[in-house]
Amino acid sequence: MKRVAILISGGGSNMVALAESMVGDHPARPCVVIANDPDAGGLAKAAALGIPTAVVDHRDFPKDRNGFEGALHASLEEYQPDFVCLAGFMRILGAGFVGQYAGRMLNIHPSLLPKYKGLHTHARALEAGDTNHGCSVHEVTADLDDGPILGQARIEVVADDTPETLAQRLLPLEHQLYPAVLRRYVMGDRTPVYLPSAPVMP
Ligand code: GAR
Repeated sequence: MKRVAILISGGGSNMVALAESMVGDHPARPCVVIANDPDAGGLAKAAALGIPTAVVDHRDFPKDRNGFEGALHASLEEYQPDFVCLAGFMRILGAGFVGQYAGRMLNIHPSLLPKYKGLHTHARALEAGDTNHGCSVHEVTADLDDGPILGQARIEVVADDTPETLAQRLLPLEHQLYPAVLRRYVMGDRTPVYLPSAPVMP
């Protein structure tokens, strides 16, 4: 059975979707949920699901990303994960840290990558007048939101959409996409998953 660590910063709804998918004949199980913020709402949700939790507070390492990443690595390694899923984890991870999990760390990002790396993706899609928007799951590499794309889910942008309505419509698709990609990924299948079904042409 493969072991999956999940890193969060906030509410953890993607973490819950991942954790709830790892049951039955699924080849992996969650081994720990780690937050960089002790107030992350997802911590209580993980505990309620019976998953060990830990906090590595980035504020304990002011202007010291190496220190933060060293502590995060030490915390992760206590749980010996085979795979690491970033699920709403809002800290940028450096090349040294990422290299320790090369080929076994995933992220979900709320845009149709390669569009809109970084923050405020919904607002940027609206400002650009995009008719399609979506989310992507990708392998994490040293460059931000840049690794190979393993799946995308698309929604249409409609009149009167706001960043909030886009986020609201997209989140349930994130919850479908990420577990679907993870299940394939832990079995060594890198074939991208597209939701609803066709490849996305942003
Ligand atoms: C999700 O929409 C996720 O795609 C996004 O944060 C939200 C976390 O929600 N991630 C990023 O923006 C990463 N750059 P959750 O805590 O409920 O899963």
